[in-house]
Amino acid sequence: MNPIYKKLFEGNKKWSDDMKKRDPLFFEKNSKEQKPPVLWIGCSDSRVPANEVTGTLPGEIFVHRNIANMVIHTDLSMLSVLDYSVNVLGVTDVIVCGHYGCGGVNAALSSQPMGLVENWLRNIKDVYRLHQRELDFIKDIEKRAERLVELNVLEQVFNLTKTSIIQSAWNKGKKLSVHGLIYDLKTGLLTDLNATTEDRNELPRFYQVDAGMN
Ligand code: CO
Repeated sequence: MNPIYKKLFEGNKKWSDDMKKRDPLFFEKNSKEQKPPVLWIGCSDSRVPANEVTGTLPGEIFVHRNIANMVIHTDLSMLSVLDYSVNVLGVTDVIVCGHYGCGGVNAALSSQPMGLVENWLRNIKDVYRLHQRELDFIKDIEKRAERLVELNVLEQVFNLTKTSIIQSAWNKGKKLSVHGLIYDLKTGLLTDLNATTEDRNELPRFYQVDAGMN
């Protein structure tokens, strides 16, 4: 057995003991229900864990992570998480969090064959195509990748607001904000991209879904 596997249990025991020292009733309270106010859609990257980087505890953030924090309308897992968090948990804020130095975004900028994951990365290439004029203009490769990270988050925020799940929540009068954030691996800090969307009227009319069917 790999030593790391054993270490996980040691770490877990210590963490559980520390949590109980801080709040003896923490696990008992937490085990009864969850009512997180936030849904976090982030990258699978091991360096961007939602709770740690936001200083929150178990129970405070509902999380969905995939390579490059994508919101793809045929992704049943993402849609299920979104539907459950909005319609059952009643989250008030949905966050898409990207990060500079994203391996998925870097891979999408490359033409190297990568096998299966190419099918996923193609969605990031589509974001590039939408913003090709701006991105081609940035000659520094690292800066271009950073800008693609930002534009990708903006497009995923947009992809969220296009969904019938978000729009029907707005149509029902729910207060629901969708935000785009960037995490900087070098500083540990989050930046808001000023992409917060709170009303379907912020979308082009042809993307708006009227109240009625859902
Ligand atoms: Co990443």
